[in-house]
Amino acid sequence: MRLPRSPAYAAIFLFPFLTSANLLDCNHARADGVDWTFKPLGGPKSVLHADEGSASWTNTTYTIDLCAPLKRKNDVPADQKCPGGTRLCSIVRVINKDDKKDFISDAFPIAGELRDQGGGYSDAKWTRLKTSKLDTDAGKEGVRLEIKGGFRTVDGSKKKQKAFVEFICDKSLVGDENLWDPEDKYGDGNTKREEKASGEPSLQFVDYDKSGKDEDVLTLLWKTKYACEETKKEEDAEKKSHWGFFTWFIIIAFLSTATYLIFGSWLNYNRYGARGWDLLPHGDTIRDVPYLLKDWMRRVLNTLSGPGTRGGYAAV
Ligand SMILES: *[C@@H]1O[C@H](CO)[C@@H](O)[C@H](O)[C@H]1NC(C)=O
Repeated sequence: MRLPRSPAYAAIFLFPFLTSANLLDCNHARADGVDWTFKPLGGPKSVLHADEGSASWTNTTYTIDLCAPLKRKNDVPADQKCPGGTRLCSIVRVINKDDKKDFISDAFPIAGELRDQGGGYSDAKWTRLKTSKLDTDAGKEGVRLEIKGGFRTVDGSKKKQKAFVEFICDKSLVGDENLWDPEDKYGDGNTKREEKASGEPSLQFVDYDKSGKDEDVLTLLWKTKYACEETKKEEDAEKKSHWGFFTWFIIIAFLSTATYLIFGSWLNYNRYGARGWDLLPHGDTIRDVPYLLKDWMRRVLNTLSGPGTRGGYAAV
């Protein structure tokens, strides 16, 4: 078959690869030659931003899953949840101060693979803070994630959404401390009630800027040891040394066995002119292994069921 060599043709084939680039992958964050992994922070993680009005609270819960699309635990009406493919979801709850009654006033995706839902691609980008050109990043260690693809319906039209998640190195924090436990549950939610308690949450709200003409921008801050540039290197080194030991163990065991068999066969061949099974050292024993095993099994079974088959009733 002859393939036409037009650029359009090439584009059709390359297209899926081009568009699948820059998916949000919690396991491999890379910027400026440095690697991070945020896999341990996978699963839905929430942060609350509360606005107090005169008669009501407006509480917005932002939930992000770095490793997989968010999934609601229970069946929820579509207008009260984010569409499939969402990685960062915003749910706005209005709570009446008098009677404490509340309702969800808005739920929309900020980022994710939302092309099929009327949004865009997450198009994840990582920026190393140490070498960032922004003045505000000076002296910070960590990495900034930029993700988009979401949309918010404003007056009947869609406004694009984008988020910055700034991962800041803090050696004393895992990153799941004191997180907000939202009322809107997600599957496999690993925020635990008892951790809600007090103390500063590792994941924090910084800003939600709605002033832009074309898009709204959410900024979150995540303090975690996984943002430290040393963390992944140390873990990799540890893994390598474990792997190294087992690899060597297996290689040496294999080589020893092989050497023994080859050298033994060579001896048998030269000294005794052995052929076939007789070539192998202990050839007889190896050949008998299946029979020995069978015999042994029979004995074990006999011992176990012994008294029964022999009608072993105690004499009265
Ligand atoms: C709303 O936010 C306020 C202030 O943080 C908090 O005390 C309250 O529990 C929140 N209510 C709900 C239903 O999220």
